[in-house]
Amino acid sequence: MNLIHFTYDLVVDAPGQSTWEPGTWRSAPAAQQPTWPDPVELKKAEARLAALPPLVFAGEARTLTAQLGKVAEGRAFLLQAGDCAESFHDVAADSIRDKLKLILQMSVVLTYATGVPVVKVGRIAGQFAKPRSQDFEAIDGVELESFRGHMVNDEAFDVEARRPDPWRLVGAYQQSVATLNLLRAFTKGGFADLARVHAWNQEFIATSAEGLRYTQIADEIARALAFMEACGIDLAREETLHQTDFFTSHEALVLNYEEALTRRDSLTGDWYDCSAHLVWIGERTRQLDGAHVAFAAGIANPIACKLGPSATAQEAVALAERLDPRRTPGRLTFVTRLGADRVEAVLGPIVDAVRDAGHPVVWTCDPMHGNTITADNGKKTRRFDDILREIRGFFAVHRSLGTWAGGVHVELTGSDVTECLGGAEAIGEADLDDNYTSMCDPRLNARQSLDLAFQVSELLRAERSA
Ligand code: PEP
Ligand code: CO
Repeated sequence: MNLIHFTYDLVVDAPGQSTWEPGTWRSAPAAQQPTWPDPVELKKAEARLAALPPLVFAGEARTLTAQLGKVAEGRAFLLQAGDCAESFHDVAADSIRDKLKLILQMSVVLTYATGVPVVKVGRIAGQFAKPRSQDFEAIDGVELESFRGHMVNDEAFDVEARRPDPWRLVGAYQQSVATLNLLRAFTKGGFADLARVHAWNQEFIATSAEGLRYTQIADEIARALAFMEACGIDLAREETLHQTDFFTSHEALVLNYEEALTRRDSLTGDWYDCSAHLVWIGERTRQLDGAHVAFAAGIANPIACKLGPSATAQEAVALAERLDPRRTPGRLTFVTRLGADRVEAVLGPIVDAVRDAGHPVVWTCDPMHGNTITADNGKKTRRFDDILREIRGFFAVHRSLGTWAGGVHVELTGSDVTECLGGAEAIGEADLDDNYTSMCDPRLNARQSLDLAFQVSELLRAERSA
């Protein structure tokens, strides 16, 4: 990764340059913000964060923009994946490792299937804040503030736990530092070795009920590796096969946190939100005149914006104008999350209009958030088949328009949870109670995630041969 040197001098806007500042969002209406009970403590926590070092460097964010620019041009594919909400109670090295391992495994399968590089972006090292459809939650006549992610409060149902605590902003930063440190060590220290990741995939195939049907793809990858060796490429010494770029992302929801970590790059004079390489605007905070759009418009990071089933083509174009006025490939990613039943009807006009307006955006499919249902036991869940069906619809629409279906965005965990229904192990409603640990949305477990990657690969192969 490029290490760009930072200075923290105050740089005065050159004439004609924008007057945007990290705090500009404060004069716009901000949805989904916690009601901080103590403004003095909030100011202290913000000051603490502002004094701490950046988590990522501007140069790294620029590298990601360049890689996403290739996705926008149809020359790379984006895999964005990780937890719905990271937890302060789960900072163990093993769980971070398992999530990374899974994303690497999926990306090898997708690289082979797409024939292009896969840009890997984790929902990790900062994904600690959640938008909620209700501000309050009532249980047995007791009403408390909703849980908004560990950056804000705790999920336990009691008054103290639910009270927003601004020092949690600093806690989120600290856990992100630890997580990112481990990710950097893993991805540059040999853990991401291609041969090793392939061996993990072979293990999945050998030990999974449905894995056998993927033997062919895995064998083809093995043959491709053998072919390279036969051509004289020494895989053991090929640097690019031993390490990989891995980027971080989260929803830029709590703007006090994002503002405090926004720094001016001494090389370019541009502002970067140094809390992550990429940040996104959620479905509930994408109002054109709202604070989140005002914030994202001014940072130079690559940014993403969710588009749900109510999004119109005009809204998408207006967002693109605002967030990508210079029409920079890789600057803006639209993450559509429309639901399996609606994707085919809703997506086409949006893609068409944005393309006609000349914005070279990345199109990626979040097949999770439009397909959440409530099981009979009251648990939130998602059907593996619906997830796959939305991805299919997404590919079909892009194929018919001649645009590049640029990626997938999924919620997953490396552990053996039972939160989503179906998949290779056919998890049923009765199994949901076995190991349901998500604090927020239901995630794919490791086997379901690999199953998904292989199924998407088959889909892409079928498309290519069609
Ligand atoms: C999320 O990605 O966890 C999320 C809340 O998504 P959305 O904004 O699309 O609902
Ligand atoms: Co979610």
